[in-house]
Amino acid sequence: MRIMLAIKAGDPAACRVPLLAIALASGKAVPRDLARLDRATGGAIARAVKAKDFKAGRDETLLLYAEGVGPQRVMLIGMGLSVTAGGIGRAAAIAGRRANAMGVQRAAFWVASPDAEAIESIAAGASLGAWEYRELKTQPPASERPKALESLTILVAKLDAAGRAALANGRAIAEGHIIARTLAMMPGNLCTPEYIAATAQAVAKRHGLKCTVRGRKEMRALGMGSFLAVAQGTPQDPKLIVMEYNGGGSERPICLVGKGLCFDSGGISIKPADRMEWMKFDMCGAAGVIGAMEAIARMKLKINVVGLVGSTTNMPSGTAMNPGDVVKALNGKTIEIINTDAEGRLVLADLLSYAAREFKPQAMIDAATLTGAVVVALGNTATGVMGTDQKVVDELLAAGRRAGEPSWQLPMWDEYKDQIKSDIADVKNIGSRGGGAITAAIFLAEFIEGAPWAHLDIAGTAYTEMDLGIIGRGPTGVPVRTFVEFVRGRAR
Ligand code: BES
Ligand code: MN
Ligand code: ZN
Repeated sequence: MRIMLAIKAGDPAACRVPLLAIALASGKAVPRDLARLDRATGGAIARAVKAKDFKAGRDETLLLYAEGVGPQRVMLIGMGLSVTAGGIGRAAAIAGRRANAMGVQRAAFWVASPDAEAIESIAAGASLGAWEYRELKTQPPASERPKALESLTILVAKLDAAGRAALANGRAIAEGHIIARTLAMMPGNLCTPEYIAATAQAVAKRHGLKCTVRGRKEMRALGMGSFLAVAQGTPQDPKLIVMEYNGGGSERPICLVGKGLCFDSGGISIKPADRMEWMKFDMCGAAGVIGAMEAIARMKLKINVVGLVGSTTNMPSGTAMNPGDVVKALNGKTIEIINTDAEGRLVLADLLSYAAREFKPQAMIDAATLTGAVVVALGNTATGVMGTDQKVVDELLAAGRRAGEPSWQLPMWDEYKDQIKSDIADVKNIGSRGGGAITAAIFLAEFIEGAPWAHLDIAGTAYTEMDLGIIGRGPTGVPVRTFVEFVRGRAR
């Protein structure tokens, strides 16, 4: 589901919509531009602020009704002290979600003097908030169908080319989010490796990207023994998907790499049944890569980007890999499998070597719902960032800040290396209990073949098991926007 996004110049008091959302900062007087709108509400805005019934705290809302030719309803949305692009985008997400829940079909959004970055965030945020996955619920007849938000218009004092371009960029991000979140929300029986490959091909076709999809046979020929070990237990054909966007001539590309486990049962080291259903989200890294490719292609960024996805399921069966098995990765290193549930790193190992060798990237970034340990370390607020190239790490942290997708670095010191030493192979696939997010990254670093690399552990941030207020249970869209911001930061 997508909403139409528009931008236009005009006085909020004259905007004829069922709902007008007004984002306000706390501790400030009501902006003068709202004087006429305040009068249309009979002075309710100023009185609510004066009485401190509305303090404009972060996520606070107040619904008022207006008279006259302008908006029917006015929803004040607080931003707290965070009048950054991220804070404004958050208010827009609330506007989108609330309008949708109220069954308002048309809405407008106003915030004091938004710059291009803010306009982009409003468009992306409103779409994020209004998105719902309804595809698998039987639809009631059209006459009884609950109304949903269909369009949102951003109101500005003066519209210029920069504002229009910012809206287009916001739309591009919104489209990337929708693709990623739809893939993520779809259950494993529908979102199969084949379906992920078809989605990548559809994105590629729409924008004229090169896209190659390889299966078990081709991967065997390449020598991807690590990835294939994970896929050994399922009859479904695993997929290695490579999407190439060429916007930067002959320069080295950025490689974006995603873990795409359509379901992670744990394999022979099977997971407990309780909440196992959430492991359909184990393909959020892959969804993030495909969503980012859509946004990057839409924005026509002047840079080369290759998106690589490894997709399969991790199943226990008579053909599955077993603890104690030793497999050989694409780069020749041998891996002792201690725990078959540490499968994401086995898939990524071959993807990273492949990306590094094939594309000699200027930067290589993977995103993966890789460890429960990163959730212990950082909770559901920050993505874990680790890497061997501090410049790439620093750019990623900055990109995450701009994207409103906070991330935090964890160390990759040599001291952790001992933990993945194996008695009989080059490395083993797990360390000891503590620092699990770090040892997973240390393992990945064995396979990067010298590429400037960083890794996003999105296990705590790519989807939410709680309603977050601005969005409901399910996929958050992380890391689509972080990827886009990183790439844009390096584009010409
Ligand atoms: N997909 C999981 C990680 C995960 C856990 C994602 C919770 C989201 C929420 C990954 O494949 C996994 O199972 N990791 C194990 C590693 C362990 C066996 C070393 C984990 O974190 O428990
Ligand atoms: Mn696992
Ligand atoms: Zn997994």
